[in-house]
Amino acid sequence: MAFLRAAVTLLCLVQLARSKTEWLQSLKDMKLPGEEMPSVGCSTGRGPRAWGATEGEAFEGWVPLTIMDFTPVNRSFYVQLPKGVGTSRWRPAPLLIALHSQGDQADSMAYSHDYGTFGKSLGFVSVFPQGLDDAVPGGGDLGTGWNVGTAGDDQTCVTDEVTADCYASCWEQGKCGSCNWSGCYDERLFIYSVIQAISSVLCIDQSRVYVTGESNGGMLAHYLVQSLPGTFAAVVPWYGLPLLGYGLGAEFELVRDRTDCRQTAMLQLHGRQDDIMPVAGGVSGGFQPGWIYEPLNKVQQGWAAVHNCDTVASSTRTYWDGGERNFACFDYKGCTSGRRIMRCFYDGGHGDRPGEGAADQITVWFLLQYRLDSAKPKSNASIFV
Ligand SMILES: *[C@@H]1O[C@H](CO)[C@@H](O)[C@H](O)[C@H]1NC(C)=O
Ligand SMILES: *[C@@H]1O[C@H](CO)[C@@H](O)[C@H](O)[C@H]1NC(C)=O
Ligand SMILES: *[C@@H]1O[C@H](CO)[C@@H](O)[C@H](O)[C@H]1NC(C)=O
Repeated sequence: MAFLRAAVTLLCLVQLARSKTEWLQSLKDMKLPGEEMPSVGCSTGRGPRAWGATEGEAFEGWVPLTIMDFTPVNRSFYVQLPKGVGTSRWRPAPLLIALHSQGDQADSMAYSHDYGTFGKSLGFVSVFPQGLDDAVPGGGDLGTGWNVGTAGDDQTCVTDEVTADCYASCWEQGKCGSCNWSGCYDERLFIYSVIQAISSVLCIDQSRVYVTGESNGGMLAHYLVQSLPGTFAAVVPWYGLPLLGYGLGAEFELVRDRTDCRQTAMLQLHGRQDDIMPVAGGVSGGFQPGWIYEPLNKVQQGWAAVHNCDTVASSTRTYWDGGERNFACFDYKGCTSGRRIMRCFYDGGHGDRPGEGAADQITVWFLLQYRLDSAKPKSNASIFV
């Protein structure tokens, strides 16, 4: 009996070890259909020298850029560029954008994830944009955060439960309200500018720009794929949901820009016991009570409709199923867009992750399987004027 148990354990361990490398091999072996879309940087880019780095060497560090927002603002992003990646015009590199959570920093997010390591073996560039904290002195300060386009909308919170001061950039634009919580710089403009900045320096495959983010960064990931339709080939929000009324975009872009939205595949990772952004949506509890979120399944149903998939999600297998946190995934099958709308749940609260390194692995595994049909962002929003 003990022998049998030992044998079973051994078999499980062997399987685990294999699944840990199989997904990576499957990506290396993958022949992604469609065409590369080499960025401007493939012909005229200065490469990492533009950032003070050595040509042909790996680079990791901060890059500043000034954004012409409602007022000029200095911003920055942190890059992990593997050696030899993004500099050959024959091999335009995919770009992975990872968005930190509220109160976090881009570089510490980079250190606490394996994107840089996977970028080395799979040949992609990782970039970690930095959120701003322009809380007014002496006021309630919620730290660095992302404006997800809801500032000034009093319908997104239970007003007597939320008490936060308006950030300076919101004051200046008249966007204070009963649901204050972040700054009011335009994150669409910022992230779009980050993509442009990198694409003009490095050789990037613009059909393979990906975005992921955790918590407030996951909320921003939702906002970006809604408001910059046709820019991202895939998105993986971690424990992040749109606020009430924003499931289909602030301007219902999923309906308006359906053809472009059909180009983005989506995977959401979420802890079953999350009380800050509950899977079932509704009012948050925990240490940030009073915010009202869309239910995860309704958000995904909207995307599944855009992609012409089945109307209900069914169980689907991955390399990471089971384990201590009971990892399990579902997707809407039969999408005529050829993409996937998928979600994975695991035991845990807000900020918990499905096992050691598994979240980074499944994120990279999912994202890198997709490519846009046409990479030009077609959004004609006034922010680009
Ligand atoms: C941005 O940074 C530059 C260089 O440090 C500085 O000269 C400029 O005043 C800053 N601009 C703003 C709007 O803070
Ligand atoms: C929002 O911010 C403004 C300006 O700081 C403040 O007057 C108002 O009371 C805040 N709202 C809440 C609900 O805290
Ligand atoms: C896009 O915006 C520009 C500048 O505002 C405008 O001239 C143009 O007509 C717009 N194009 C479309 C297709 O809406």
